[in-house]
Amino acid sequence: MSEKKLRTFSGVQPSGNLHIGNYLGAIRNWIDLQNNFEAIFCIVDWHAITVPYNPKELKKRVIEIAKIYLAAGIDPNKSIIFIQSQVKEHAELAWILNATAARVSDLKKMTQFKDKSLKKGEGNASVGLFDYPVLMAADILLYDTKIVPVGEDQLQHIELTRTLARRFNQKFNSLFIIPEAKINQTSSRIMALNNPQVKMSKSAESEYNYIALLDSIEIIEKKIRKAVTDSGSVIEYSDKKPALKNLINIYASFSDKSPEEIVKIYQNKGYADFKQGLTKMVLNFLIPFQKKYNSLDDEEVLEILNAGKQKAEYLAQIKMEQVRKTLGLN
Ligand code: TYM
Repeated sequence: MSEKKLRTFSGVQPSGNLHIGNYLGAIRNWIDLQNNFEAIFCIVDWHAITVPYNPKELKKRVIEIAKIYLAAGIDPNKSIIFIQSQVKEHAELAWILNATAARVSDLKKMTQFKDKSLKKGEGNASVGLFDYPVLMAADILLYDTKIVPVGEDQLQHIELTRTLARRFNQKFNSLFIIPEAKINQTSSRIMALNNPQVKMSKSAESEYNYIALLDSIEIIEKKIRKAVTDSGSVIEYSDKKPALKNLINIYASFSDKSPEEIVKIYQNKGYADFKQGLTKMVLNFLIPFQKKYNSLDDEEVLEILNAGKQKAEYLAQIKMEQVRKTLGLN
């Protein structure tokens, strides 16, 4: 008898331009996982509407993300790919977790809410932005997920998910599996090209913060040329040179070389040579990636998303039946 595979689940918001940080920190790690786990990858559009957005653009971005998943190597024959808002059970479970397991004090600790609400002030942030981590917990718990491959910025949300699952299990019935985050050491936190103190972010004001997965060759060359470097001219991998360290991490992630090997290659060379090498590594990945992306047909992608919806919905409905029954809601 074949053993039942454990589940892995992850997602990306269809907001802003997806960048190499999203790819290296999260999506790339999904490719291997789909061979050993029952894999579910979601486009989390309900998360994306917690901040002001343009509906037409959202629709476009959802398809864009699906194509990025496919171009990156997510195989719809192995993995479920679907849109969060098409499976209503996500919202239902989020509400139930809100009511039965989450506390205001938990959410007040979330650093991402604090960061994201900083600009306009906490009082002006949407309730959805505040409650965002509970919807994320629902995404994960709904599918009996064991492994959640993400970048470092999501660790606090996954810790909260574990807390909510434990609380619910203790209070009612052990319905939820306690999930675990999976992080890639060298690429779990790719920093901005224009400021090594902040992470690369798709909502950044300046496009020199990130390299988008769909940037043109010319733009990528320009962004790497303009990337800030530290004072001095020696190529070193050190916390004293955070900008260079970040660029070396990107180089290492796109090559089969360790940071130490990269430092050796550029021992007697300057920043300009290093940046040329880095550009080559990034383009070696992005050129074929974009070719695959551009070859994908919208209709086919919609079919894949629709098939994914059916499969995800089937699993979600079984879980929600158990939850409703436990809570006297059936
Ligand atoms: P999102 O859309 O902000 O980011 C998608 C993934 O990319 C990772 N990431 C990074 N990794 C390395 N360096 C960076 N600079 C960097 N920036 C982003 C993120 O950690 C993430 O893994 N809340 C999530 C989406 C979500 C989700 C879920 C994830 C909703 N429900 C359930 C996992 C499971 C988010 O906003 O990701």
